[in-house]
Amino acid sequence: MTSSGAVFGRYNVAIVRDLADSLGEQALRMSKEEEQSVDMEKARQEHKFYTDTLRYQLGLELKELPAVASLPDCVFVEDTAVVCGDTALVTRPGAPSRRPEVEATKKILKELNFNIVEIKDETATLDGGDVLFTGKEFFVGLSKRTNQQGAQIVADVFKDYAVSTVEVTGTLHLKTYCTMAGPGLIAIGSSPHAQNALKQMQEMSEHSYNKLTLLDDEAANCVYLNIPEKGHVLLHRTAKEFPASAKEFEKLKDYTLIPVTNTELAKVDGGLTCCSILLNKCT
Ligand code: GLY
Repeated sequence: MTSSGAVFGRYNVAIVRDLADSLGEQALRMSKEEEQSVDMEKARQEHKFYTDTLRYQLGLELKELPAVASLPDCVFVEDTAVVCGDTALVTRPGAPSRRPEVEATKKILKELNFNIVEIKDETATLDGGDVLFTGKEFFVGLSKRTNQQGAQIVADVFKDYAVSTVEVTGTLHLKTYCTMAGPGLIAIGSSPHAQNALKQMQEMSEHSYNKLTLLDDEAANCVYLNIPEKGHVLLHRTAKEFPASAKEFEKLKDYTLIPVTNTELAKVDGGLTCCSILLNKCT
């Protein structure tokens, strides 16, 4: 349960967005040094598996936004809004090239009757990938994309919850190496950067969490859902990509585990959480 009484991870709608043809050549990358080319056909197949899983295997209603060629990163919808309860905070992404992405997300969230909050402060930057909601509180990563003003806006908007900031080093977003793998269960990478983020979170929090430590930071980006009649569900990276981390996932009891390959979008710093905004919409 969250502190509002909602079941943690209970979602029935997912916003997703198609891949822009320009992604392979133009999507932003943290590191240009080891640039690997994106196989767009494979990227589309992997993305289709992800969206089909949400729709057909887990029964979510999908709201699919079309891609726009001038927005090469638009598939990464997570960064465009932070939704909790009936409130949707439309973000102001740190990368200027990504700011127009929020318009399509805002429109669909309005149609879904969320209370929309927009960021007017032009000094604030906020990427959804830096916002971790544990069910009890928020942690906001201060990264190359999200700043203190952005974190303050999360605190101003979601007043029912404590909001703490975490310095993010060594990666793009907080959630690149730290997500929730279940109620009260934090999935965390084992690199010094990830462990340092966890330490900061533990020092600031009044709550105690269990940890699922994964050898590979990238594998710690997983998607937890609680689905009626299935219970705990976890989309996680495959054993082929990250064998040691997959073994850790396999130890989780009473979970439906769904391995999802993400080799192509990972080349442009995309993880599993990046490709959806999960919502619980009362009908
Ligand atoms: N390519 C994902 C991002 O840089 O936001």
